[in-house]
Amino acid sequence: MIFSKRTNGLSSAIFSILENKKKELIDENREVFDFGTGTPDIPPAPHIIKTMEEAVIRPENHKYAIKDLPELIEAVMEWYLRRYGVHLERDEIISLAGSQDGLAHISLILADTHDTVLVPDPGYPIFSIGPSLAGADIYKLPLLRENNYIIDLDAISATIAHKSKIIIVSYPNNPVTAVAPDVFYEKLIWFAKKYDIVVVHDNAYSELVYDGKTGGSFLKFPGAKEVGVEFNSLSKSYNLTGSRISFALGNRKIIEQLKNLKSHLDYGIFLPVQKAAIAAITGPQDYLRSTVETYQKRRNTLVDGFNSLGWNMNKPPATMFVWSSIPKGYSSSMEFCMELIDRYGIITVPGSSFGDGGEGFVRLALVQPEEKIKRAINLIKGVSKNSLIKFI
Ligand SMILES: Cc1ncc(COP(=O)(O)O)c(C=O)c1O
Repeated sequence: MIFSKRTNGLSSAIFSILENKKKELIDENREVFDFGTGTPDIPPAPHIIKTMEEAVIRPENHKYAIKDLPELIEAVMEWYLRRYGVHLERDEIISLAGSQDGLAHISLILADTHDTVLVPDPGYPIFSIGPSLAGADIYKLPLLRENNYIIDLDAISATIAHKSKIIIVSYPNNPVTAVAPDVFYEKLIWFAKKYDIVVVHDNAYSELVYDGKTGGSFLKFPGAKEVGVEFNSLSKSYNLTGSRISFALGNRKIIEQLKNLKSHLDYGIFLPVQKAAIAAITGPQDYLRSTVETYQKRRNTLVDGFNSLGWNMNKPPATMFVWSSIPKGYSSSMEFCMELIDRYGIITVPGSSFGDGGEGFVRLALVQPEEKIKRAINLIKGVSKNSLIKFI
């Protein structure tokens, strides 16, 4: 069998490799501390599950949805205005089967073969895979610690900028956890207008911002809707991860073209999921606040705990991740991650799996309860007395 070049180039996602490792540990009856995949371990709020449950038992909700429910669109308009101060029209919104769906497909409507797409490095993998599947060329924009992980738009040459059709940007950022200042977005819009580039802003973590701060929306900046769209997922904010619901919002021409493409790809979001999304964004928001508190406490326990072992981690300002350089003494992030798995059953993600710019770093997802985080740290503490791990 000869597969297409476009899929033959796809390496097996790191998460399936880690899943296999996890299975091996479980088969050996070892305790697993899974800080790998960013799947929330916190369920959706009870009122969201109840809404979905009531919708699921109604036979009429099992037909093809085809389109977004008008009440869903109304709810999104109300939510964006209340939460982000952004006014949206009905034709500036479409639901997606998760932002992954949007990121996988948006290049199909914006880029032709060998058009350039600008993506962050390190970056969430689908940022590059989506454009590559559309035949576009990827140009990587380094996220450097010395620039606080903010893309340096001045470093993009005019030649590259003229060839580019899309720039994919995402703050708060996975994996590096950085938040971008307003001036960055203002400059981004200026840059996009100057070179006629579409901005795709992935806003998956606007709700998971810590230390009393609040995340915002790209669309609140003047001119944003002229140059781009934002994806806003309910996976991490409302823990509707498996339901697969997110939105593309902004430039109406892009939304229209995406609707047209998607009408050929799928038949809309399952109606009970649409109803659950309405319950999430219009219902009580106290559960969301407690979700943020939970992640913040886990962040503190994890970072303080690992630092007490001699690692030198910073507390992330946002997201459900910790991003840290690997301790001294390891030649690669993969080597370090494999050692953590083999010795302690601790699963983390090597930074290199997010691109060359991630080498030397590791990502830990805050998806374990505090007691388990403490247990993982105590486990290393006990063993490293015999200096089995080179933390210092
Ligand atoms: C930056 C980023 N974008 C998109 C996604 C996927 O979101 P969704 O579940 O809406 O497909 C994730 C999931 O981890 C993510 O980290």
